[in-house]
This record gives sequence, C-alpha cells and structure tokens, in this order.
Amino acid sequence: MKRNMITRLSALLCAACLTIACDDGRIYEEVTSVQREGGSIRLTGHVTGRDTWASGYSIVLAGFADGNEYAQTAKGLTTVNGDSVDVVLSGIPSEVTQIEICAINRLRKRLFTFYASDYTEQEDTLRIDVGSLDIGMYTTVQTNLFDRTCTSCHGGSTSAARGLYLTADSSYKALVNVPADLSPEGMPFVTPGDVEQSFLHHVLNSDVSADWGMDHSDMVTSSDLLNLVDDWIANGAKE
Ligand code: HEC
Repeated sequence: MKRNMITRLSALLCAACLTIACDDGRIYEEVTSVQREGGSIRLTGHVTGRDTWASGYSIVLAGFADGNEYAQTAKGLTTVNGDSVDVVLSGIPSEVTQIEICAINRLRKRLFTFYASDYTEQEDTLRIDVGSLDIGMYTTVQTNLFDRTCTSCHGGSTSAARGLYLTADSSYKALVNVPADLSPEGMPFVTPGDVEQSFLHHVLNSDVSADWGMDHSDMVTSSDLLNLVDDWIANGAKE
C-alpha cells in the first residue's frame, strides 16, 4: 500500500518535472541545496615520510576557516603504491578558506603545515596536484626548528658554533648517536628511542647551557615544537 503511494508520487513528480520548463526555478533550487552540503577537493601527488610519524599525530588533508587553528574538516592522508596520494575531501563547509596538508593533534589543532592553498567553494570538485612533498617527522624538525632558530649560529653561514652543523644536509649525521662535547655525562645529542639520554632534549628544556655564554633554554618556547623533538626521538629518530 505504502509502496504503491510512493510509486504514484514519483510518477506524479516525474510528470511534473516533464511539464516544468528548465528555467522554472525548482530545478535550480535543488542544485542550491546540493551546494550547501559543501565543496569537494581531489588531491593528488607524491608524499614521502608519512610513516615516520609517531602516534598522537594525524597527517591529514584539512580545511581551515580564517584565523582558526582547529580544522573544520579533515581526512587522513593515506598513500597507495608507496608514496602516491589520491584523496577526496568532500562536504567542505563554506567557512573554509584554506586547504592544507598538515599534522594535527587529537583535538584537530593544526601543528605543522606541509602544503597550503587558498580555497573558495566552487561547483565542481577542485583538483589539486601537490607534486612531491617530504612530510617526514625529521624534515619537520629541520624546517620548523633547526632552519628557523638554530642555523643562524650552527652552520648557516661559514662557521658553526662548536662545530655543530644543524643545516639540512648535515644535522642528522651530526646529531644521531653522536656524543656531545658539552654534555657532562658524554651523552649523545640524540639517542633514538631515549629522550632522557638525548642532550638535544636537555639543551632545549633545561638550563644546562646557562654557563656556555649562550643560554639555549629560552630559544624554543612553543610546546608543540618541544613535543615534536621529544616525540621524534622517542619514536626512533627516523630519518
Ligand atoms: C646565537 C647563536 C646560537 C643559536 C641561535 C643557537 N646556538 Fe647552539 N650553541 C651556540 C654556541 C656559541 C655554542 C657553544 C658554546 C660553547 O662552546 O661553550 C652552542 C652549543 C650548542 C650545543 C652543544 C654542542 C656540543 O658540542 O655539545 C647544542 C646541542 C646546541 N648548541 C644546539 C642548538 C640548537 C638545537 C639550537 C636551535 C634551537 C641552537 N643551538 C641555537 C650558539 C647558538
């Protein structure tokens, strides 16, 4: 009985559609309501280092509204056939103005950005190819910490303080499993898997450098960045 009603109703509707001219307006109303469900993006590219991230971080394709560091919408960035990425993010709310590949925490707060692009909603799926991106955890330490705060003294110019080069092509070899001159206990700069046995951690988080003539303890104040270094070390200090 019910089904019968529905069949009749759809028949009626179909008939109505046929008789209503396309510029009648109703059909456009439908399209508008689809648009309100949000825009969509298809993102492709090649991404390396995805699997070097510790738990607690999610690597996502996400949409952000102006001035808001919490993602409005996000989808995990999974790789297929090695490093290829092909992700569709749909239902993007209209307040989203920026699309990013980034690392977020469990509260969806943006921590580190690997790729960003302005976004305005459009009718068709927006296609973006990001080319090749290195989004590894160590690369993130390099670009967000060493390059910004350390290389000005450690290797960016012609010399490096205490011979410690923290530039992109040198930092890994200079730090991982290498004993630190200035560590009273002869601790390595970085001991994979052991934050407490990593001098880099103590230089950034304690006043061990106070009597070096160059206090390092306040150089990094962002807890996200300090956590990143610790988590990178704890997770095996992968290259
Ligand atoms: C303004 C210059 C300057 C900046 C910026 C700087 N350092 Fe240093 N750093 C020094 C100096 C100078 C020494 C050596 C002190 C000495 O020889 O007594 C040093 C020593 C060190 C040591 C100990 C080296 C050893 O052989 O034991 C580490 C580790 C270190 N810095 C890490 C960093 C990190 C990480 C950053 C960025 C967050 C950084 N430094 C930023 C000047 C700087």
